[in-house]
Amino acid sequence: MEKVLKNCKVLVTGGAGFIGSNLVESLLLNGNNVVCLDNFSTGKRVNLKDFITNPGFQLIEGDIRNYSDCENAVRGIDYVFHQAALGSVPRSIKDPVTTTDVNIGGFVKMLFASKEASVKRFIYAASSSTYGDHPDLPKVEDKIGSPLSPYAITKYVNELYASNFAKTYGIEVIGLRYFNVFGRHQDPDGAYAAVIPLFVKTFMKHGSPLINGDGTFSRDFTYIDNVVQANHLAAIVTSQKAVNQIYNVAYGERTSLNQLFEYIQVIAGRFDKDILKIKPSYGPERAGDIPHSLASIEKAKKLLGYAPTHNVREGLEKSVEWYLKNL
Ligand SMILES: NC(=O)c1ccc[n+]([C@@H]2O[C@H](COP(=O)([O-])OP(=O)(O)OC[C@H]3O[C@@H](n4cnc5c(N)ncnc54)[C@H](O)[C@@H]3O)[C@@H](O)[C@H]2O)c1
Repeated sequence: MEKVLKNCKVLVTGGAGFIGSNLVESLLLNGNNVVCLDNFSTGKRVNLKDFITNPGFQLIEGDIRNYSDCENAVRGIDYVFHQAALGSVPRSIKDPVTTTDVNIGGFVKMLFASKEASVKRFIYAASSSTYGDHPDLPKVEDKIGSPLSPYAITKYVNELYASNFAKTYGIEVIGLRYFNVFGRHQDPDGAYAAVIPLFVKTFMKHGSPLINGDGTFSRDFTYIDNVVQANHLAAIVTSQKAVNQIYNVAYGERTSLNQLFEYIQVIAGRFDKDILKIKPSYGPERAGDIPHSLASIEKAKKLLGYAPTHNVREGLEKSVEWYLKNL
């Protein structure tokens, strides 16, 4: 990766989580001093093990719902990469109150503390769920529908707050709408695990991965390295046209769940031939799920210079291998 943020002081909220820990690692590799604010609600200490002793790294155990933790974390920071949130559509349907507290209340606290500390830019994790029931494919940033879950509402409200703060207070913001991210450090356990680590883990135990629906639903699965690249680019971009914007961050291709099952099976089957005999199980569709998702990445390409390096198969090769070594 050539265009990267270097030698700055940055804050990654949610830095013990899947995306956050990958971002921290890359920021440290490029000579940045990194503060991580995390309450370990879904994040894991093991995700920090490769850099916890790095002198450029500082961990603050705290909560974005607590304003003094936010103030403490942003002190002296140039760039904020706000990743902390409670993910998962099903979790938000089960417990909309906590999801809203963290994803909206915590977001506004981090944003306000960042503005008060005069950070250079606030880059935050937005979500493809904001497209809601809008039928168009591919998804283009300015055409969204009604959100289909409490989680999607929180992510949309984040965009509204960020845009309002940019106008009201002049803070620079960039929202990155991630599409189904996958890769190393993504949690395969628990009721709200994402589909790729769940499939890999089930294959490894010789179980039959459960596909919700008939397997024709599709997603623009996005390898973590593409997401890390987009975050660097959002920090270093200088054109004012590119700032105070929302961008899709994806690969720009869609893969059905049936295809995904096959891709993972073939890769994992190279390490364990018995996996090749496994058939999927099919269950009911999940509430709040949309049938298909595919991003247009033209805006990020044009304004940020985004150029994703891994398609879904290339990302799966790396991810499955990582899980086989680390689970
Ligand atoms: N993974 C995806 O496919 C995807 C897609 C779209 C958007 N996103 C967004 O990207 C961000 C990161 O997601 P992820 O997949 O890495 O999830 P994750 O659960 O692995 O990471 C979230 C991190 O935030 C921390 N956190 C949660 N609540 C907190 C609080 N109150 N105070 C401090 N820290 C808190 C967690 O402990 C965890 O370390 C989230 O904002 C999520 O909504 C993710």
